[in-house]
Amino acid sequence: MAELSVVIVATDNEQRALLQVLVDGTSVARTVQSCTSFPMATGDPVVRRVLAANPDVILVDIPADNAMQALRGIELLREEMPDGAIFAIGILKQPQVIVNAMRAGAREFIERPTTTTDLLEAFVRLASSQRRGRQEGLRGKVFSVINAKGGNGATTVAVNLALGLQSSFGQTALVDLAPLGHAALHMNMKPVFTVSDATRNLHRMDASLLESYMTRHSSGLQLLAGSNVPASVDPSTADFVRLFDMLVSHYRYIVVDGSSRFDAASRLIASLSETVLLVACTDVASLWSAARVNQYLAEGGGRERVRLVLNRFRKVPGFSEAEAEAAVGAKLLWRVPNQYFAISTAIDRGTPVMDQRNSEIARCFAGLTQELTRNDVEVKRTAWSLFKSV
Ligand SMILES: Nc1ncnc2c1ncn2[C@@H]1O[C@H](COP(=O)(O)OP(=O)(O)OP(=O)(O)O)[C@@H](O)[C@H]1O
Ligand SMILES: [Mg+2]
Repeated sequence: MAELSVVIVATDNEQRALLQVLVDGTSVARTVQSCTSFPMATGDPVVRRVLAANPDVILVDIPADNAMQALRGIELLREEMPDGAIFAIGILKQPQVIVNAMRAGAREFIERPTTTTDLLEAFVRLASSQRRGRQEGLRGKVFSVINAKGGNGATTVAVNLALGLQSSFGQTALVDLAPLGHAALHMNMKPVFTVSDATRNLHRMDASLLESYMTRHSSGLQLLAGSNVPASVDPSTADFVRLFDMLVSHYRYIVVDGSSRFDAASRLIASLSETVLLVACTDVASLWSAARVNQYLAEGGGRERVRLVLNRFRKVPGFSEAEAEAAVGAKLLWRVPNQYFAISTAIDRGTPVMDQRNSEIARCFAGLTQELTRNDVEVKRTAWSLFKSV
């Protein structure tokens, strides 16, 4: 691979010097410039120096005690240098900083203390994605589905939404992050690999390895299956960020079945999502839980993305949708009718209701698919909201 030129932006002298040694030690990249402060505004001297160096990669060190300035710096550099790849360096214990760095425009988040191997792997990933000719704007959207309360129907919604997206647009993946994955059962699939296999092998992940972990449904939908043991080892949130970075560069839509998973990972996925579908029923306990879950996701920065999906919906006297919205603190996105026979038979047979064309329930999920993709005409795909394209 051709040698990559690198600019290092780090306020700490020791860290700057160390990063230079590490970059030059990879033998595939060379430091061409170091900056001692973060850019503060368009056209300030730091921006001018970086522009003049025209690097392939800009390494931005995010200090633990002053992440804000570094994140603003990443944003500015991204705007000024859309073709340069930004790698953020920071500590993994701050998931919100990781997400914000990716949103600001970083394409990699590398752990501090950093090693030559970490950098080398990131440089190789960059070179191979450039070889594949990854284009500006070709990044997928994530929709995550999470329960207000166990059994409220997250898996049913996730599976049928994913099938709806696959049938209308293709290139859709369903990622089962439930504590015990049921999505494969709903679709009568027998996966060989699960999410844990993918997260265990992130260090060598590329497009073909990712594909090999997916199980293909007859509709073309690709499933990254969930855990088949109740207690599995959880990957770190940074691993999830990297996995989703791969997924969004590979698929047009990614549906995540979070079911009743409430932990740092589900919060992180919520903040990476275009929309979080919070599935609740109309009973008091479920709406009470929905408000708590919404609050929990809001603390992770996902509040404005959360929308309520009322499952097993039927009109009952005294129930008001506006009151449900107010109680939960989220706008109502969709209602799924109460159709126990159709849905439970579909699950038992492994033939999701979306496959039963022209039924009321299939039309309901087709409508949900349409609602979520309303503004997604081809030309608008560049305006994707998670990681800025690189
Ligand atoms: N719209 C609906 N009408 C009637 N019954 C439904 C509806 N949606 C789901 N169910 C029933 O609820 C049960 C749970 O559904 P599902 O597996 O989708 O829930 P879940 O919330 O993902 O559960 P878990 O908490 O175990 O992950 C199923 O048996 C299904 O038949
Ligand atoms: Mg489930």
